[in-house]
Amino acid sequence: MEMQKLVLAVLIVAATAASFASAASSLVTFVFGDSLTEVGNNKYLQYSLARSDYPWYGIDYSAQKLGVASPPPYLSLSKNDDALLKGVNYASGGAGILNETGLYFIQRLSFDDQIDCFRKTKEAIKAKMGDVAANKLCNKALYFVGIGSNDYVNNFLQPFLADGQQYTHDEFVEFLISTLDQQLTRLYQLGARKIVFHGLGPLGCIPSQRVKSKTGQCLKRVNEWVLEFNSKVQNLLITMNNRFPNARLTFADSYPHVLDLITNPTAYGFKVSNTSCCNVDTQLGGLCLPNSKVCKNRREYVFWDAFHPSDAANAVLAQKFFTTLFSNPPSIPPQPSP
Ligand SMILES: *[C@@H]1O[C@H](CO)[C@@H](O)[C@H](O)[C@H]1NC(C)=O
Ligand SMILES: *[C@@H]1O[C@H](CO)[C@@H](O)[C@H](O)[C@H]1NC(C)=O
Repeated sequence: MEMQKLVLAVLIVAATAASFASAASSLVTFVFGDSLTEVGNNKYLQYSLARSDYPWYGIDYSAQKLGVASPPPYLSLSKNDDALLKGVNYASGGAGILNETGLYFIQRLSFDDQIDCFRKTKEAIKAKMGDVAANKLCNKALYFVGIGSNDYVNNFLQPFLADGQQYTHDEFVEFLISTLDQQLTRLYQLGARKIVFHGLGPLGCIPSQRVKSKTGQCLKRVNEWVLEFNSKVQNLLITMNNRFPNARLTFADSYPHVLDLITNPTAYGFKVSNTSCCNVDTQLGGLCLPNSKVCKNRREYVFWDAFHPSDAANAVLAQKFFTTLFSNPPSIPPQPSP
């Protein structure tokens, strides 16, 4: 069974923003993130508990609208693999902006680790093509970053972890943003120029958070925190665009789109948005394991497990990004899905 490829379609589609015009066939993408974008790195981490190489995961994965292949997991490639030249996915389930996020998964590649892997990728590319061509390749490539959900779900919102006790939310969000500033700056220094940052969805409405409410409602406070994070990230990106003249950092705002699916499921052909298809709504665990009972019609559920959207939901989100980001005539026509 293939690995989890939950929202890569959404990310890939965001890449098609007209402002990022470049020949689709030669488009190189580097993907950083968590389980929402992982395509298999954690399978290579022997002790990782954040895994998705189970039956069921990937069962409905299909769409790739950009017309380039989804880049392979970094850990599946050899050190000097030619595939490195065509783009790499560094995303790792359980990862966060902070090192300590997701620590109970034992092993995962934190965002810092992922940037370090990219540094090694760049060294390998330099060895193959020389410095000038390597720099050019890295400058032209598209970088997708979708990270931060675990800093809430698997850190700040877990009462038994230190960060939730040590910081107020105001302090915590400042810590996240100042760390992210350093991390994106480092990516820039390594050659990244076109970066799409995917904002957080309404985490207060994911099944693992709803179960904390007696009535199964969205946790309003959590959603307010997420909105604060998203807004501060947007400000950070504006600052960075001013600070780095050749950089183009863009914010892909997932929150309103995901919330729309949750509040108006029937408008998109869904029936259920308050519980998961796999019926594993718990705060820890919450993954669809091989012995879980999957819902009859996966197309009717917005959520697949306690944390992640279903691929049916991802397809709707991908379409939404596709349309909004193509509101200006693109220089590359969108490729039809195979
Ligand atoms: C994570 O750990 C590394 C190595 O100890 C350190 O250099 C880095 O600053 C830490 N990053 C964060 C976000 O805490
Ligand atoms: C989900 O919503 C339906 C319809 O409003 C309701 O009957 C059901 O109890 C809710 N389920 C949970 C787990 O909150």
